[in-house]
Amino acid sequence: METAEIRRRWLAFFEKNGHTVVPSAPLIHEDPTLLFVNAGMVPFKPYFLGQETPAWQRATSVQKCVRTGDIDEVGKTSRHGTFFQMNGNFSFGDYFKAGAIELAWELLTSSLDDGGYGLAKDRLWVTVFEDDDEAARLWTELTDVPAERIVRRGMADNFWSMGVPGPCGPCSEIFYDRGPEYGHEGGPAVDEDRYMEVWNLVFMESERGEGSGKSGFPVLGPLPKKNIDTGMGLERMASILQGVDNMYEIDEVFPVLAKAAEMTGRRYGERSGQTAGDSHPDDVHLRVVADHVRSSLMLIGDGVTPGNEGRGYVLRRMLRRAVRAMRLLGYDEPALPHLLPVSMERMSRSYPELRDGFERISQIAYAEEVAFRRTLAQGTTILDTAVARTRSAGGDTLGGEDAFALHDTYGFPIDLTLEMAAEQGLSVDREGFTRLMQEQRERAKADAKAKKSGHATTEVWKELRALGETEWKAYEALETEGSVVGIVSDGVQVQEVPSGSRVQVVLDRTPFYAESGGQIADSGVIELGGTRLVVRDVQRPVKGLVVHTVEVKGDGLRIGAAAHAKVDPMWRVEACQAHSGTHVVHAALREVLGPSALQSGSYNKPGYLRLDFAWNQGLSAETRSEIEEVANTAVRDDLPVSAMWMTLPEAREMGALALFGETYGEQVRVVEIGGPWSRELCGGTHVRHSSQVGPLTLTGEASVGSGVRRLEAFVGMEALRYLAKERAIVAELSSLVKAQPGELVERISDVLGRVKDAERQVEQLRREQVLAAAGSITDHAKDVTGVTLVAHHAQGASADDVRAMVLDARGRLGEERPVVVAVAGDAGGRPVVVVATNALAREWTLQAGALVKVAAQTLGGGGGGKPDLAQGGGQDATRIGDALAAIERAVADRG
Ligand code: ALA
Repeated sequence: METAEIRRRWLAFFEKNGHTVVPSAPLIHEDPTLLFVNAGMVPFKPYFLGQETPAWQRATSVQKCVRTGDIDEVGKTSRHGTFFQMNGNFSFGDYFKAGAIELAWELLTSSLDDGGYGLAKDRLWVTVFEDDDEAARLWTELTDVPAERIVRRGMADNFWSMGVPGPCGPCSEIFYDRGPEYGHEGGPAVDEDRYMEVWNLVFMESERGEGSGKSGFPVLGPLPKKNIDTGMGLERMASILQGVDNMYEIDEVFPVLAKAAEMTGRRYGERSGQTAGDSHPDDVHLRVVADHVRSSLMLIGDGVTPGNEGRGYVLRRMLRRAVRAMRLLGYDEPALPHLLPVSMERMSRSYPELRDGFERISQIAYAEEVAFRRTLAQGTTILDTAVARTRSAGGDTLGGEDAFALHDTYGFPIDLTLEMAAEQGLSVDREGFTRLMQEQRERAKADAKAKKSGHATTEVWKELRALGETEWKAYEALETEGSVVGIVSDGVQVQEVPSGSRVQVVLDRTPFYAESGGQIADSGVIELGGTRLVVRDVQRPVKGLVVHTVEVKGDGLRIGAAAHAKVDPMWRVEACQAHSGTHVVHAALREVLGPSALQSGSYNKPGYLRLDFAWNQGLSAETRSEIEEVANTAVRDDLPVSAMWMTLPEAREMGALALFGETYGEQVRVVEIGGPWSRELCGGTHVRHSSQVGPLTLTGEASVGSGVRRLEAFVGMEALRYLAKERAIVAELSSLVKAQPGELVERISDVLGRVKDAERQVEQLRREQVLAAAGSITDHAKDVTGVTLVAHHAQGASADDVRAMVLDARGRLGEERPVVVAVAGDAGGRPVVVVATNALAREWTLQAGALVKVAAQTLGGGGGGKPDLAQGGGQDATRIGDALAAIERAVADRG
C-alpha cells in the first residue's frame, strides 16, 4: 500500500469518526522552544494547556516532523530518520483512554476492504505505564489482545512529554511483531527491532515542569481537561504494509536511494551485515543521501534557507552531508539536480505545493551544493596536506591550528573536519580548536570595543560641534565660500599643518555630501590661496558636524583661512544618477516581484549601484530583463523627481518607504520619482528628472545571506561602457569561431560538444591501452618463498583500471599455487593500490586487506577491504615503488 494511501485511509477513518481534518502545519512553528515541529501535537499545544479553545473537540492530522537530535546516527541503523510524518488523532476534553484504544484497534485490525490496515491481531503487542491499571484493563475489555501481550513499563518508556515544560501524561504503545527473522521472542521489552513500535497513545492529563531526560522533571498538576494525543509513524506503518525492512525502503524514500545507487554504480544491501545492525559503509551513505535529500526538500519547501545558525545551519548540514555522502560513494559531479527531483516526484503526491514551488526550492538547494563543492575542493587539499604532515611526524591527532585554519579560511565546519580526519584514521585536537575559536572571538570583541570608543576623537568632534553647526549646502550648491574652523591631526586639534599632511578639516559651511544612506561622499577640492585640499572622504561623526578628510597640497593649512569648497561637478552628476537609479531599480523590482521585495540595504557611487533586498530565490534571466525593462522605461518617461520635507506620520500616510531605521528628526525628507511610483525616505542627492539617470544595466544578482539577494547595476556612461565591452567580446568571439553573433551560441556549444566527445575518446583509448598492458603483467610474476607474486606499477591508471587489472591477473594465474597480485596506479597524481589473493594464498595467511594496509602506510594513507580483495591509497605517488616492495617483504614474511 502506497504511503499516500495509508495517509488517506487514516484521515478518512478519523473523519468518519467525528474528527475534523486539520492540514499539517509548516515545519517551522512559532513555538520558540522548538527548532522544528517534532510531533503531531505541536500545533495543538495551546489547546492541551487550556490557553486557547479549539473550534472542535476531535481533530486528526498527518503532521510533517523533523528530528535532528540523531543526525549522526542516520543511516548507520535503519531506525533513525530526520524527516517523518506523524499521523495523529486528538481529543480535547472529549473521549479519553477507552475511546483512543478502541479507535486505534479498529483501524489497525479491520480489513483492507473495510478501509483499515488489516494487521493480524496475533502480531500486535501493547505496553502501558506501570501504574496504569485502567489502561491495562481497557485493553483486555475492549480488544482481543491477550493479557500476556500487555506489558507494563516505567517512566522512561511509557510516560510522554515534549522534552520541555508543557503537557504530558502516561502513554500506551502498540507494537507490531515482525517475526523471528528480526530478533528474539519476548515482546517489546526484549527486542524493539523485532517488535516495532507503530503507534503511541498519550493520555494527556498533566503539565510538566523544567527538568531533563525522560523522567527527571516534576509533574506539576492536572491539565484543565483530559485529552488524547496519539502518534503513528507513517513511515513505519508503510514499511510494514509494503513488506520492506525499514523506512529507507518505502515508496517515498527508496527512489532517491535507488537513484543514488544507480549514479554511483553501487548496489544497496548487497554486502550488508552478516550480523544484524552491521551495515556496509555504502549502504550507510546511500541512506544518508535518501534521508537528507528528502528532509532538505521538505525544509526548504517550508521556507528554511541554508545559513550558519539555527534552522538554517541544520539544513546546511543536511545538504552538505548528502553531497559528501555522494562523493564518498565516488560521485564527483553536482548530485542534487539528479536527486532532488526524484524526491519531489514522490513527496508531491501528498504535498502538491512542492511541485509548484520546486523552482525556488531547487535553486536554493543547488546553489548550496555549488558553494559547498567549492569549499570542499579547497579544504580537502589543505586537510590532506595537514593529515600527511601529521602522519609523517608520527602523530595521530590533527592539530587544533589546522582545524582552526580550515574553519577560519576555508569555511570548513569543524564537524566535517572531524569526520574527514576520522576517515583517514586521525583524531582532531578539539580542545586546541575550541581555544583558538575562543581567542578569535575575544580579539573580535576587543577590536569592536576599540573602534567604538575611539575616545579621543569623539571628544574632539564634540568640542568642534560646540562651536556651531556646519552649514550644510549639499542640496543647493556645488560651491561655497567659508572658513576653516577646525583641523584635526591624529585625533587632536591643531592650529596648522604643513603641506603633505592628511588631516580632518571642518569648515563653517560646505557643499560636500557626507556619506550616508548608501551614497558615498562627494569628491572635490577646497581651495585656500596657495593651498589645495583634495577631499578623500566626508563624514558626519556627530549630528550637525561635517568633517572632510583631506590631503594638503601646495602651501600649508592654518585655522581661520578663507576656504572655497568645490564639489567635482561631474562626480556629483554621476552620484545623483546612481542614487536616483537606486530608487528606480528598487521601484522596478517591487513592480515586478511584488511589494515584499523590500530593500534592506544599498550602496551607490558614480556609475554604479547595488541594492540588497529580501527575497529567497535567485531571479531568472527573464525576471532580470523585466526589471531592467521597467527601470529603463521609467527613465525614458522622464518622470519628475522631487524632495519634500514633512513629519514622519505624514510621510507614512503617503506610503513612503522608510528603509534603514534611521533616526530622522522632527522633519523627514521624502524623495519621490513620478509621484507615488517611487516614494522613499531619503537624505541623498538626486537628479531632477528620471531621464537624467541615463541607461541602467543590471550586471549581477546573487545571494548575500539567508533570504537576502543583491542586485548590481551600472548607470549612465558606465552602463554604456559596460555594454560596449560586452559588444567587443562578442565581436572577438565571432571572429574567433567565425560565426555571426546570432549564431555564436550554437557554434560554441557545438565546439564544446565535440571537445567533450574527443575527451571521452581519449579516455577510452587510454583505458584500452592500460588494460592491454595489463595482459602482460602476469609475465612478471615471481616466486616469493613459494608464493606467486605480481607487483606492478601501472603508470597513469585509475582505481577502476587497477581493480580490473588485478582481477584479470588473479583469474589468469589460477588456483594451483598461492597467488598475490598487487597493482598500484597514480591517476591524477594520487596513488592507489589494489591487492587480490587467491584461496590458497589466504590459506597461507596472506590477507589482501592486511597487505594493502602495509602499502598504504608507505604511501601516507589508509585502506582496507576483504581478505580476497582490498584497496588503499595515500598522498605520495613517488613512493609507489617502496610500497610494492613493502608488499613483497610482507609476502615473504607471510603477511
Ligand atoms: N506526541 C506523541 C509522540 O510524539 C504521540 O509520540
